[in-house]
Amino acid sequence: MRGCWVWFWADHRQYSDHFESVIGVDFTPAQLELARSRNPFANVTFKEGVAESLPVSDGSVDLVTSSMAVHWFNIPKFYAEVDRVLKPGGVLACYSYHVCAPLYKGKNLYSEFYEFWENLNRYWPKKYDPLKTEYTTIPSCYPEDLHLK
Ligand SMILES: C[S@@+](CC[C@H](N)C(=O)[O-])C[C@H]1O[C@@H](n2cnc3c(N)ncnc32)[C@H](O)[C@@H]1O
Repeated sequence: MRGCWVWFWADHRQYSDHFESVIGVDFTPAQLELARSRNPFANVTFKEGVAESLPVSDGSVDLVTSSMAVHWFNIPKFYAEVDRVLKPGGVLACYSYHVCAPLYKGKNLYSEFYEFWENLNRYWPKKYDPLKTEYTTIPSCYPEDLHLK
């Protein structure tokens, strides 16, 4: 396959085997510096750029991913860019983290941890709200969107 798009510097380990070319994009130079310093793959490169104006040509990408970042983007502009860069049949995958269920001596501490998480959430900026709702509040890019947990 040709072309893949990632924002998560750890992701390139998963994608480098499956795509001829993997491009990591972020607008924060420090993120890119760290990503480059830890990248052993020849087919993975990093570019400084914004999600709303991606530095790739029209219809050239098979997969666009966003790891823990889409809630920061201007969604209508980002979706228009995704539509521009994806090949027909290409895929956009946006993912993030949520509360884990820690085990301690065989006991599932989900409810205790969730209480801590809920308290912590009060101090997060509004921009983080889509994380709390597991991205269900972010509008769909395409009508056939899937929401996976
Ligand atoms: C929570 S960090 C996630 C970083 C990385 N994707 C990961 O999974 O570890 C969010 C990242 O999104 C980047 N970011 C936020 N808005 C952006 C935008 N409009 N265009 C490009 N990068 C953006 C920030 O610079 C930051 O590095």
